[in-house]
Amino acid sequence: MQKTVVNSWNEWDPLKHVIVGRADNCHIPPEEPALDAKVPEDSDMRGQWGRRPQETIDRANELLDNFASMLEGRGIRVDRPTPIDHSLPATTPDFHTDSQFGCMPPRDVLLTVGSEMLEATMSYRCRWFEYLNYRPLMQQYFNEDPNFRHESAPKPRLTDADYHPDYLSEKIGVEKRLKWTAEKFFVTTEEEPLFDAADVLRFGRDLVVQHGFTTNLKGIEWLRRHFPDHRVHAVNFPGDPYPIHIDATFTPLRPGLILNNPQRRLPEDQREMFSANDWEIVDAAQPAHNAPPPLCYSSTWLSMNVLVLDPKTVCVEASEVYQMEQMDKLGMEVVPVELRDAYAFGGGLHCCTADVYREGGCEDYFP
Ligand code: NVA
Repeated sequence: MQKTVVNSWNEWDPLKHVIVGRADNCHIPPEEPALDAKVPEDSDMRGQWGRRPQETIDRANELLDNFASMLEGRGIRVDRPTPIDHSLPATTPDFHTDSQFGCMPPRDVLLTVGSEMLEATMSYRCRWFEYLNYRPLMQQYFNEDPNFRHESAPKPRLTDADYHPDYLSEKIGVEKRLKWTAEKFFVTTEEEPLFDAADVLRFGRDLVVQHGFTTNLKGIEWLRRHFPDHRVHAVNFPGDPYPIHIDATFTPLRPGLILNNPQRRLPEDQREMFSANDWEIVDAAQPAHNAPPPLCYSSTWLSMNVLVLDPKTVCVEASEVYQMEQMDKLGMEVVPVELRDAYAFGGGLHCCTADVYREGGCEDYFP
């Protein structure tokens, strides 16, 4: 039977179909320029690589499976990727990496805009082949939905010319990093278009894209040309010394309301489209934890990496008591979901999912 399978224009309309990642065979990849720049100098990730310990993989899968079952219990269709062998090295004519990453988190790779799912270029060498984990699902959607547009952004070459060597020194220090990010001097150069899907937030006709380590200005320009019916806005958050992926920094909850990380506030001159249309940008609550879990790339701000199920309902990680309390005060029904032991695999509740279908169409929220 042929029907519409893929449709999602924003981050909050009622969710009906979603992809949830898997932790199978996930690897900590070896050193490479863009990835090293993201790992804090005092992180336990420095100098480590190889297959993640089996007990952590099993625990993460248990949590991801529970999350998927909970969503299914609420009537949401859940699909899962088919893991490729992430232990395999990847070699192209331009680079070599000794292992890959995993099929977590799908949000980094897949950008759904209306009836289209777009595979991002990615900017880490170890993630160059990650789209293959999702190809069986893309083929299925292609067969089921006559209007589904499966797109893939041009694969980047990821030679050394894509990375600023200044970022490769062992000890840069947070102060210098903050100066550089304020100057919009990031690890990636403007050699060729680069973007990760998790740097993009969808607001109907408007796409808000973080310029940082994983998305460069050429990547944003590529998105602008690729989506000619959209307005594409570049944003950046100078308070973030490791700016990758927008979804622990800026979190829309419903039309008119966005949570912003108080350490990474959107600069005044980039707020105009929101204030002119009466959107409120409120500081997110503090995370409940002082440090990320072991072997985790992300910051404690995964507290605000929430999955909105509809404009009144939101999934929040179960240990994030302050974030849950704030959601409650903002009038949202909170669904607590245990996921912290899966954070190390690439992120929280928003990261570990990718939209396939949300009700509703393409609205103009910023006329
Ligand atoms: N920039 C992020 C990535 C989270 C998805 C962080 O806070 O670590």
